Amino acid sequence: MSTPANAAASSARASSAAASSVAASNAAAATTRARARPWLTPRWRKAVLVLHILGAGAWIGIEVIFAVLVLVGWLSPDAQLAGLAFQALGTFVVTPMLTAGLVTLATGLLLGLGTQWGLTRFWWVFVKLVLTVVMAVLIVVALQPDMPAVVAQGEAIAAGAAPGAELRTLFFPPAVSLAALTFATTLAVAKPWGRMRGAGGRSQSRW
Ligand code: HEM
Repeated sequence: MSTPANAAASSARASSAAASSVAASNAAAATTRARARPWLTPRWRKAVLVLHILGAGAWIGIEVIFAVLVLVGWLSPDAQLAGLAFQALGTFVVTPMLTAGLVTLATGLLLGLGTQWGLTRFWWVFVKLVLTVVMAVLIVVALQPDMPAVVAQGEAIAAGAAPGAELRTLFFPPAVSLAALTFATTLAVAKPWGRMRGAGGRSQSRW
């Protein structure tokens, strides 16, 4: 039976449970704040950001060079020049591209971990991270292994052979990468979509 004494006891239990849950969530918020405290000083943050933007810019430039060499290889009426374009593509492009990608990734990781942005706190950072890792993996597993064949094709074309069918798909890698890098740059500048679930706080979205 419910008596005034029972009701008072159960209300006391409920308010003590509520108080302890508030205390627990305050403690969790304090831990998150402590973890979120930026450890890159403003000067280092700027230095790493410069490197990050240079890395991303170099990566975009190398993708453009990739696309130009494919177009010269496809379209040049001069077989020597077309063959040379494929040889240059197969020899010189992928290593600098991977280096620029890894510089962008490493500096992006530092900027995420060392500033208030975090890696899994804001959607725009997380999506850039996933995109960059996927692109870097594709360079290593899908692009790099094909380059010796591209060089061999270039030598054959320069010696008068007809271009092989596999050269027809070579425009896809720079086209897809340039689209992804343009998207990543847009995300970096616009910082859309706000915080990820559970990351708390106010949205920083500018769109
Ligand atoms: C796909 C390649 C990427 C491109 C093209 C790119 C581009 C940029 C650009 C242009 C900025 C400057 C934005 C501004 O100052 O308003 C920037 C900032 C930033 N990027 Fe990236 N980024 C890339 C990959 C990454 C990755 C992989 C991460 C994280 C792991 C990352 C994390 C950050 C963070 C946290 C900032 C803000 C730094 C700050 O203002 O303190 N980026 N990015």
